[in-house]
Parts: sequence; C-alpha cells; structure tokens
Amino acid sequence: MSKVTVIGAGMVGATCANVLAAREVADEVVLIDIKEGLSEGKMLDMYQASATTDFKTKLTGCTNDYAQTANSDVVVVTSGIPRKPGMTREELIGTNANIVKSVVSQALAHSPNAIFVIVSNPMDTMAYLTLKSTGLPKNRVIGMGGALDSSRFRCYLAKATGANIHDVDGMVIGGHGDTTMIPLTSKATIKGVPVSQFLSQEELAKVAADTMVGGATLTGLLGTSAWYAPGAAAASVVEAILGDQKRIIPCGYYLEGEYGQEDIMIGVPVVIGREGIEKIIEIELTDEEKAAFEASAAAVRKVNQILYDTNAI
Ligand code: NAI
Ligand code: 2OP
Repeated sequence: MSKVTVIGAGMVGATCANVLAAREVADEVVLIDIKEGLSEGKMLDMYQASATTDFKTKLTGCTNDYAQTANSDVVVVTSGIPRKPGMTREELIGTNANIVKSVVSQALAHSPNAIFVIVSNPMDTMAYLTLKSTGLPKNRVIGMGGALDSSRFRCYLAKATGANIHDVDGMVIGGHGDTTMIPLTSKATIKGVPVSQFLSQEELAKVAADTMVGGATLTGLLGTSAWYAPGAAAASVVEAILGDQKRIIPCGYYLEGEYGQEDIMIGVPVVIGREGIEKIIEIELTDEEKAAFEASAAAVRKVNQILYDTNAI
C-alpha cells in the first residue's frame, strides 16, 4: 500500500494530487489544507471525475487533520502563498518559512519514514529549512524546481526548433529563481543531436532567457503563479520515488563539496528512486556555466541567511 500526502490544496497541490491520482502513482493520495473544506471539496470533485476517467486511487481530503496523513511514503509540501505579478519568489520567505516549518513537523510526526518533496517558494531556501529544522537525512529532502524549469526549457526549445517536445532533452540546474537558474544549452539535445546544430547562439540565448522568466511570464498572464506544469513536475518526482525509477532529474539537493559548494540546497542532476535522492551526478560544466553556478549559489545563500537572521533555524 503506497500513500502520498500533498500539503496545500491550492492550485499546485490540487494539480499534483490530481496527476498522482489519475496516473495511479500511489494507492492513496491525501490532500490536506488549513482552509476549511477546501481539500475535502477538491478530493470529492476528483472522486467524481474518477467515475468517467476510471482511476482507482483512494482519495482523502482533510482540514488540518494530520492523523489522516499517517504512514505516508512521500509528502509533497505546496502550502504557502504564491507570487503575484511583479513579486519575486524570494519575497515570499517570511510567510512561507513559518508555514513550511509547521506543516513539515506535523507531517513528520505522523510519517516518520516519509520522503519530503518541497515545492513552496522560495523553494531552495524552504528545502534547506526543511532539512535543517528536521535533521532528516539529506536523501529524504528533495527540492522541486529543476524538474519544472527543465520542462519549460524543453518547451521553449521545442517552440524555437519546431521539434516534438518529447524528442527534446534538456536540464536546468542552479537555484529556482528568475536570475539564478541555469538552462544548460551546452548539454541540450534533440533526439541526441546537440541543439547547437538547430539553433544559432543568439537563438539559444533567447531560449535560455525565455526559460529563466518562464514562471514570471505565466504569473503576468495568469495574475498568480502557474500550476499545471508545477503540479505535474512535482508528481513526476513522486512517481520516480514510488516506482524506484532511478530517473535523472535536476532537483534541490544538499551539497557537501559537490560542484564546489557546501551547506546549501540547490538544483543539480540527481538520481531519484525509492530512497529519495540516491545519487548526485557531477557533470562537466563549461567555464561560463561554472561561473553562473557560483553566482546562483551565492544568491541562494543570501536568501538562506534570512532564515538565520530571523531565527527561523
Ligand atoms: P495557492 O495559494 O493556490 O495554494 C496554497 C495553499 O496553501 C492554499 O490553499 C492555502 O490555504 C494553503 N496553506 C496555507 N497555509 C497552510 C498551512 N499552514 N497548512 C496547510 N495549508 C496551508 O498557491 P499555489 O499556486 O498552489 O502555490 C503554492 C506554493 O508553491 C507557492 O509558494 C508557490 O510560490 C510555490 N510554487 C513553487 C513552484 C516550484 O517549482 N517550486 C512552482 C509553482 C509554485
Ligand atoms: C514558478 O516557477 C513561481 O515557482 C513558481 O512557476
């Protein structure tokens, strides 16, 4: 019996729960929120959808009742406030740090063996807070940002080349921020062929720039941050864990010397399986990518410092 809890029944959490349920990734999906009735309503709606779409996942919705999340294998944390147009992810830290710390400790009390997938923003810092405040082993705290940013990178590469998005492969590493993420254009391929054979350096630079503001573009269009791709990306990480898929996905991981960095959670390519993050992959970066990674780490570290300055950890 596999069980996943998604904390936060807003746009991203509910979408993630829906993808998990519809793909029958787990036997049971629990959706929990602080807002009275929200999770219950969304799970009842999903149950009604299952009559026509024919999935069999057990669905549980509850308001703040962590007993119902007991013995979850994976906990996805999406609770908090999203950004509005013009806001950065980093501006959310004050509110979201309190929320993330509180929901993680309540979930962990009922699911001591769970793997935590952190989505709430600023994600790199919220994942760092989760690791530091719980003392969990680092394989069990996964920051979800690179999975989403890589899907945006693949989207813009597909649009620029006219290729099928499923033939496009590419990774985004570094922090999950408009200026901190690093789309690895040097490693991207279309069916194994380097993208530099299809696009000029100027066109590749535009793809990278569009990827970096991919979230902000959607926030401008939607009035709040996106949810379909974020929810699906979070679900793909859960699927890799429960299916022991050994998939290589760029995720926030606690570095202890890898990529020249210490005491930071930041996006790097990792292997995801039943133990959570099972392995980190150290890929050869170009000098430009190395410099960008260092700058990204410095920016993430600056936001992490706020946790110490405000005694959140
Ligand atoms: P939303 O506002 O639609 O949903 C957030 C939910 O959290 C609300 O339903 C709210 O009632 C709930 N909540 C607040 N405090 C809570 C608590 N103490 N316990 C349980 N539930 C609580 O926001 P949305 O769009 O779903 O975004 C959620 C978070 O995910 C935001 O911080 C957003 O910035 C982040 N995000 C991260 C992405 C990533 O790639 N890491 C991508 C997209 C969003
Ligand atoms: C996104 O990338 C805001 O992190 C959120 O859509």
